[in-house]
Amino acid sequence: MKAQGIDVISLAAGEPDFATPKPVRDAAIAALNAGFTKYGPTPGDPELRKVISDKLWNENGVRAAVEQIVVSTGAKQSLFNACNVLLDPGDEVILIAPYWMTYPEQVRLAGGTPVKVQTTAESDFVPSLVQLQDAVSPRTKAILINSPANPTGAVFPRRTIEGIAELAVKHDFWVIADEIYEKLVYGEEHVSIASFGSEIAERAITIGGCSKTYAMTGWRIGFAAAPVAVAKAMSNFQDQVTSNANSFAQRGAIRAFMLSDSSVEDMRSEYESRRNLVIELLREIPDVSVNVPHGAFYAMPDVSAYLGQRMKTDMELAEYLLDEVKVATVPGSVFEGHGHIRLSYASSRDNLRAGIERISEGLRKLRA
Ligand SMILES: Cc1ncc(COP(=O)(O)O)c(C=O)c1O
Repeated sequence: MKAQGIDVISLAAGEPDFATPKPVRDAAIAALNAGFTKYGPTPGDPELRKVISDKLWNENGVRAAVEQIVVSTGAKQSLFNACNVLLDPGDEVILIAPYWMTYPEQVRLAGGTPVKVQTTAESDFVPSLVQLQDAVSPRTKAILINSPANPTGAVFPRRTIEGIAELAVKHDFWVIADEIYEKLVYGEEHVSIASFGSEIAERAITIGGCSKTYAMTGWRIGFAAAPVAVAKAMSNFQDQVTSNANSFAQRGAIRAFMLSDSSVEDMRSEYESRRNLVIELLREIPDVSVNVPHGAFYAMPDVSAYLGQRMKTDMELAEYLLDEVKVATVPGSVFEGHGHIRLSYASSRDNLRAGIERISEGLRKLRA
């Protein structure tokens, strides 16, 4: 529609609207000119692996030696590597819904079976330990956790993460912790499960990257930190798929991980202000409820009061909002969050105001 010149406001994209910080861009340009244009070691540039190992210890309390780090083409590839080296056909992976739609697909592509634990707005999209315990079976190979979460913005409290660690140790399964949004938290602490000691660290794969924190989605740099045998297997697997992540992008990533907290803080605090704005505006729309997301950059308003008559599902509603008022959102059911839509607030305040105003108008017309 945009290509046809139609004025569409997109609140659908899951990526920062900021530019990559200049020192990071400069480092990659310098690397290009210095000849970082060749193949490199599959598990990553040794300097970058060292920087990530240091970062995990200093910022996350996670002990991971350089040989435990594998740099990939985005966190997405790290997740896929993890699924492929851990799962045998029939192995179950517990996923906490609403979840990023890539997870069940990756689990299935690796031969595994996703097992869904459904959360709702009432619990702020945080699972209870009873729910998780009930999902464990003799076939459970892993649980995949994502806090701060896409699409819900949930940040799991420390006690939940502790409970998940206890379950994993007790039933001897793996934890894949996707911490890609770790720095985007608003008034809550981010807790890395692998920081809870060696028993859980031996069963944990911590996944992170540059995409969200440093506005580097297109650079495609992510990483995994895993016990040595798993890290080796992930590197071997990746070696047959893509080899090393982009050489000069990795040089930029070194600079990104070394950026001062204040450069990230500017972006984080802007997201927090936008989050507050979005929640305030959404709560003004009759019969729309929304819980306060504590991390990432998404809000998941419940629009179920508008479903059932002219629009049967959130899919139809999202389609309608695009056609009728030209706002792009993502229907909640793609994340197993039926009756909701996902809005990204990684967009300017003007866009957010105008977009939510249009949504409000669209919903009003539906009722009329
Ligand atoms: C929860 C989650 N994990 C991982 C990713 C992918 O990150 P990357 O760009 O590093 O592959 C995304 C991107 O949307 C995401 O939302």
